[in-house]
Amino acid sequence: MNNSDISGFYKLSQLERVKKIAELTDISPEDVKAISEAGSLTNDLADHMIENVIGTYSLPMGVALNFKINGRDVLIPMVTEEASVVAAASNSAKMARVAGGFTTSFTGSIMIAQVQVVNVPDPNYVKNIILENKDKIKEICNAKDPILVKFGGGFHDLDVRVIDTSRGKMVIIHLLVNVGDAMGANAVNSMAEAVSPLIEEKTGCKVDLRILSNLAVYRLARARAVYKKEVLSKTGDPEDGAKVVEKILDAYAFAAADPYRAATHNKGIMNGISAAVLATGNDTRAIESGAHAYAAISGRYTTLSTWEKDFDGNLVGTIELPMAVGLVGGATKIHPGAKAAVKILGVQSASELAQIYAALGLAQNLAAIKALATDGIQRGHMKLHARNIAASVGATGELLEKIVAQMITDKNINAIYAKEIFDRLNSK
Ligand code: MEV
Repeated sequence: MNNSDISGFYKLSQLERVKKIAELTDISPEDVKAISEAGSLTNDLADHMIENVIGTYSLPMGVALNFKINGRDVLIPMVTEEASVVAAASNSAKMARVAGGFTTSFTGSIMIAQVQVVNVPDPNYVKNIILENKDKIKEICNAKDPILVKFGGGFHDLDVRVIDTSRGKMVIIHLLVNVGDAMGANAVNSMAEAVSPLIEEKTGCKVDLRILSNLAVYRLARARAVYKKEVLSKTGDPEDGAKVVEKILDAYAFAAADPYRAATHNKGIMNGISAAVLATGNDTRAIESGAHAYAAISGRYTTLSTWEKDFDGNLVGTIELPMAVGLVGGATKIHPGAKAAVKILGVQSASELAQIYAALGLAQNLAAIKALATDGIQRGHMKLHARNIAASVGATGELLEKIVAQMITDKNINAIYAKEIFDRLNSK
């Protein structure tokens, strides 16, 4: 993929679009089928994924354009029910491209597994006993997953915390595990269960919960970008752009100071990230819970992104959040659409994937706060909303376009009116 800036992409038909993506990436004819034909996730496959399967459920897959990340052009598949999200990410990435796109980094795939030790009369003493057994703990963890160790992962470090709870003091062990290109839930949960008998034997205390933490603070993805002030202006005028920068900074300051606004600000970020995480069959709930917990890590819920102004008055943004995504195992390796999405992304490692998601989150955030700080969000939403309404009354193709245009002209966008126009045009 050498250019993710594909002009006129939105004007193509759905089939032409997927063919274009196939030309630009190395997805196979089977991948094209998996994306573009209904039923690629067969009932048989679905039956192996979860329980009590009664069928499958489709959602639209779009692709965000214009992303340049660490100098590489990337197309980002996104699966979402929300209109405007894919277009907003693409527009924002186009603006960031002017100053070189996104620069990203990743702290590494270190997951935390928690082991809860209860009924501890002497927690600080017990903490030391556990720390003294680090080598033995490491041995047990690594024996649980020799393949992970073979690929350079495995036990990384040990942390032991004493916490105050309503049931008295507890000792909480954190196993830090390098899970490489896996999401890692299975690996670390198995390790946590495996070390428990040793912990009980050495401490004489009882172990209860053994489970990963989604607050993956050692698995952080970061992105930054410059939005030149002139690209933020509709007319390309730097003076007007400077005013938009100020408005965006006010919008950011509001979110940074107020948890009620921060929740929505971060929801905008997750509009992009969750859609892209779902597209590759990764665990959206793990990413969502990690993101929101990280947003509150200072003790006060705030934004996952920051927005500032550089020496030249350009807008500069950053984002940092836990990103526990993998490429091996789970739905990513089974779901035909997810497999195709990974190929479109052209990623070889979980680290690359995590960084793309951070860049997408930052782009999505800028698109939302720019719209809110200037035109308001409803203007852009209305056309897509009208399209959804027109589709909901059964309109397609040219008829749908006519209904949309009529509803917008008449500033009357609702299903009853859509049906009225539908019936009128159909009876002609
Ligand atoms: C809507 O899905 C997302 C926004 O509310 C995000 C935001 O307010 O920043 C527009």
